[in-house]
Amino acid sequence: MSLKRFLLPAALSVACLLALPAGAQEAAKEKVILDTDMVEMFDDGVAMTMLAAAPNVQLLGVTTLSGNSWVQDGTATALRQLELEGHTDVPVAMGAEYPLRPDRHQLFKTERLLVGRGHDVWTGSFGLEKPASWQAAYKARYGSAPQLAPVAQHAVNFIIDAVRANPGQVTIAAIGPATNLALAVRMAPDIVPLIGRVVYMGGAFFQPGNTTPAAEFNWYFDPEAAHIALRSPFKEQVILGLDVCEKVIFRKEHYARLLKTLDASPLAAMLRGTFVGEHFEKDASFTHYVWDVLVAAVIIDPSLIAREVVRFVDVNDQPGLSYGQSLAWAHDAPAGAQKARIVTDVDVPRFWNMLNDPRYWRSIPRPQEAGAAH
Ligand code: RIB
Ligand code: CA
Repeated sequence: MSLKRFLLPAALSVACLLALPAGAQEAAKEKVILDTDMVEMFDDGVAMTMLAAAPNVQLLGVTTLSGNSWVQDGTATALRQLELEGHTDVPVAMGAEYPLRPDRHQLFKTERLLVGRGHDVWTGSFGLEKPASWQAAYKARYGSAPQLAPVAQHAVNFIIDAVRANPGQVTIAAIGPATNLALAVRMAPDIVPLIGRVVYMGGAFFQPGNTTPAAEFNWYFDPEAAHIALRSPFKEQVILGLDVCEKVIFRKEHYARLLKTLDASPLAAMLRGTFVGEHFEKDASFTHYVWDVLVAAVIIDPSLIAREVVRFVDVNDQPGLSYGQSLAWAHDAPAGAQKARIVTDVDVPRFWNMLNDPRYWRSIPRPQEAGAAH
């Protein structure tokens, strides 16, 4: 298939958007809240950058929570990336520090011995020391004072207010555990029919998990929250679980291409310093996944979705071997289970082209340009 064929759908929708008058262009953008367990310049960070820069998206805000990182750390790294990228108008709201089940952090090590995969897997904030505050996390990581700060509002209230202010229009991109979303629908059930759609990175429906044999990280971190969210009768739920994410293999050639695209931007150094960057730098055969980046990509260009199935879905919230497992039924589902679109394939070559589209990275000031401007 030709490059032209790959690039055409996204180019067309952006061209249509640009043909509209300025006010109509703003109104035609998809309003997105990114709910994230942020890490810098890897999957959550790249997803945020793309959504912030996408011409057809209005990023209403970034809501953070613990998962990959403690919420204090994720908030600090979200702010730092937005500062470097010049996206200083995107509000960041800090959210849930702990999953819903009491004492989950304390019980986690024992639980892992009982139901874990039997070798070292990523345990996110369950295995990391909690920073005293987001400011302390920022200082420890970057050695300087932040330019931006999170809004005073809690992430859950931010979500509730943003949805009420934009009824039927907000897409929630849920790329971490579902804690903030579950709390929002419990605190304000009226928002459920007002949410345009929820696009999740989570679950592993038709294959093993990546944190226990049964469960994927985001939904294992807070199974009760995922259970509440998935069972909420949203207008639309779209799920990109391991079923599709593990078909998009991040190889050294993709890493090198992205570094080239980033050029002299400070994000290139950030990418090199990530866990994946360090591995790629010393081992050319290393491979990884880009999970959350796929959520951003299909929001920006839904035509990337090559195959999906519609199923009733749920998450097992009963502790034991299958705690956090994602469940899907074609019919005869348990009462209350809702339908979701489970994406099983995306157009992989077109995805890599999209990731390297300069429009997501071009506007990021290079150090020499920033210096010249002063
Ligand atoms: O299982 C992958 C998911 O867990 C991704 O969202 C990753 O960022 C972590 O949150
Ligand atoms: Ca994530």
